[in-house]
Amino acid sequence: MTGIIKGTGACVPRNTLDNRELEKLVETSDKWIQERTGIQRRHIAAKDTAASMAAKAAKEALAQAKLKPEQMDMILVSTMSSEEVMPSMACRVQDEIGAFRAVCLDLNAACSGFIMAYATACAYIEAGLFQNILVIGSECLSNVTDWSDRGTCILFGDGAGAVVVTAAHGRGTIPVLGSDGTKGEALTLKNRKNQTPFSGPLTKEDLSPCYIRMDGQTVFKFAARKVPEAIEEVLLKNKLRKGDIKYYVLHQANKRIVEAVAKRIGEPAYKFPMNIQEYGNTSSASIPILLWEMQKQNMLHPGDNLVLAGFGGGLTWGAVIITWR
Ligand code: ACO
Repeated sequence: MTGIIKGTGACVPRNTLDNRELEKLVETSDKWIQERTGIQRRHIAAKDTAASMAAKAAKEALAQAKLKPEQMDMILVSTMSSEEVMPSMACRVQDEIGAFRAVCLDLNAACSGFIMAYATACAYIEAGLFQNILVIGSECLSNVTDWSDRGTCILFGDGAGAVVVTAAHGRGTIPVLGSDGTKGEALTLKNRKNQTPFSGPLTKEDLSPCYIRMDGQTVFKFAARKVPEAIEEVLLKNKLRKGDIKYYVLHQANKRIVEAVAKRIGEPAYKFPMNIQEYGNTSSASIPILLWEMQKQNMLHPGDNLVLAGFGGGLTWGAVIITWR
C-alpha cells in the first residue's frame, strides 16, 4: 500500500499587497524586490484566519477527491502561524468541515512542514493504520511579520493548500527528511517569555510582540546547498534518474533560490514551476498551493513523477517523490 494524492485545494485571501504599496511602508523598491526575490505581490488576510483558510482549502480538496469529510481518518495540519495553540488547527478544521472520525493534529517544521506532513501521512497509510488523510499547509504570516522590517516584510504572504492522500496499491517511495537545530537562530519566531511565580518581572522587550526574524543570507546559502543535496539523495534512494522527473515542485521562498537549485542539479528551468510572483513566501502552504495551480492548469497527468522539496526554519529540509495518478 502507498499514499496517492486524490484531490488538491487552496485558499488565498482576496486582498493583495503589491511591491509599490510596500514602498509606502518601508524603504524599498519594486525593482529591488523583483530582482532579489521574484515577488510582485502577496495576498494578505483581512477577515480570513489561518484556520478558516485551511478549512476552505480542505473542502475543495475533498470535493475534487469525491470523498466525504466523514471518510477522513486523519487531519494533519502544518503551520507555524496558528491563531491559537489549543485547540490545534486540525481540530478547528475537523469541526468546520464535519470530519468527525478524523484523528487531528498539527505539526510545525516551518516551511518544510508540508513535506514532513505529507511523508507522515504516507507512513501512516503504508503502516496500514489509515486509508484517507487530509494534509494541509496553512499560514497567516502577516500576523507574525514585522511590517517595519524591510528584510522580511517584503517576503511573506498568507494562504493555505490542502491535499487528500488516500491508500492505493503499489510500493511507497522513500522520503529524505532532515533537521539541523544548531542553525536554529538563522530563522526564528519567538513566543512570549515564560511567566511563572519564580521568573521575576518581565522587561519591556519580553512583552513586545513576536515576529519572524531572519538572517537572509545564511538561509539563502543553506537552501541553495541543502535542497539540491536532498533532491539528488531522494532520486538515488528511489532509483530514479532526472530524466524520470516531470517537475520539481519547490518551496516558493525566492526565485533566485529555485534558479540556483535548478543550476546546481543541472536541470532546465521549465521543470521548476513558480508562482512566487503572485503569492510571495507562504511557508508550509506554498507547495500545496503550487500543486493546486499546476493541476488547474492541466500540467499534471497520470504517471508523472514529481519531486516536492522544501526547506525552512529549524533549520529543516525535505524531499519526496510522488507519482501522479
Ligand atoms: N529593499 C531594499 N533594500 C534592501 C531590502 C529591501 N527590502 N532588504 C535588504 N536591503 C538591503 C540591505 O540592507 C543591504 O544593503 P547594504 O548592502 O547597504 O548593507 C542590501 O539590500 C543587500 O542585502 P542582503 O540581505 O545581502 O540581500 P540578499 O541579496 O541576501 O537578499 C533576501 C535578501 C531576499 C532576504 C535573501 O537573502 C533571501 O531570500 N534569503 C532567503 C530567505 C528565505 O528563503 N527565507 C524563508 C525561509 S522559509 C521559512 O522557514 C519561513
